[in-house]
Amino acid sequence: MESPERAAEPAERAVESPERAAEPAERAVESAESVVDPAESVAEPGESVVEPEETLRPAKRRQRPCVAIDGPVAAGKSTIARLVARELGFTYVDSGATYRGLAWAARRHDIPADDRSRLEDLLGELNIQLRPRPDGINQVLVDGQDVTAEIRSPEIGRLASKLSAIPRVRRRMVALQKEMAREGGVVMEGRDIQTVVLPDAEVKIFLTAPAEERAERRWHELRARGVAADLETVRADIEARDKRDSTRSDSPLRAAPGAVHLDTGGLTVEEVSAKVLDVVREHCPTDPA
Ligand code: DC
Repeated sequence: MESPERAAEPAERAVESPERAAEPAERAVESAESVVDPAESVAEPGESVVEPEETLRPAKRRQRPCVAIDGPVAAGKSTIARLVARELGFTYVDSGATYRGLAWAARRHDIPADDRSRLEDLLGELNIQLRPRPDGINQVLVDGQDVTAEIRSPEIGRLASKLSAIPRVRRRMVALQKEMAREGGVVMEGRDIQTVVLPDAEVKIFLTAPAEERAERRWHELRARGVAADLETVRADIEARDKRDSTRSDSPLRAAPGAVHLDTGGLTVEEVSAKVLDVVREHCPTDPA
């Protein structure tokens, strides 16, 4: 269901380090190390919590709503989120791309998923940027290098899933994702958007589809991109990733209480996005755009 095209258009709203000069129309986001990380206040066992000053300030109400879409692999999240964002004039944010960017860097430095110490060093140095584009693609830059296409491999997906179970990795990525939604007007998709990243999102949608259909969708996508894969392997890969993503102790894949559940099985992309838009309009009766 996720469309394979990755064409790039000039960035509409760049998501960059806040210290860089941003044009008024730009949405300055990003650089994991440059944003205040409210999630840093979450203590691990044995750690005490010190609230950063930033989190004590009264929250500034954003001007436009946020739409949070979560669900398992190949439920149609990214295609639907992109279409819905375009329809609303919102920014699409692919939160999984931040974990994939990290996985790409870890692989490049030959850091295995269980080497926590080197991973932490890498996290401290790494600059991951998402640049939402009007065509719906999130361009992904890792230390300035465009890895948008490379991070789409099944191998990077698997490694991203493993790394995303590490609490410190999640804190970094969640801080980055929150920053991208600071002003609202985003459709963000992932696994923990409605529960952790944007628990105050105005619209929360949990997309699912039968496992068999999800495996077939992913298999077709891979083939369309010229990646050789057999259906059984794709199915097993998806099952393993979903299991890991839903059973990890930190922010497992879950629907938030009150989320709208949509089964995309047997529906066209247009049908699903129409349903999602209906939900958005119901929850945001005044024109959300
Ligand atoms: O959505 P995706 O397949 O690009 O995500 C890759 C991995 O990143 C996914 O298997 C789990 C992780 N992820 C996450 O833990 N939380 C998110 N919000 C998004 C992705």
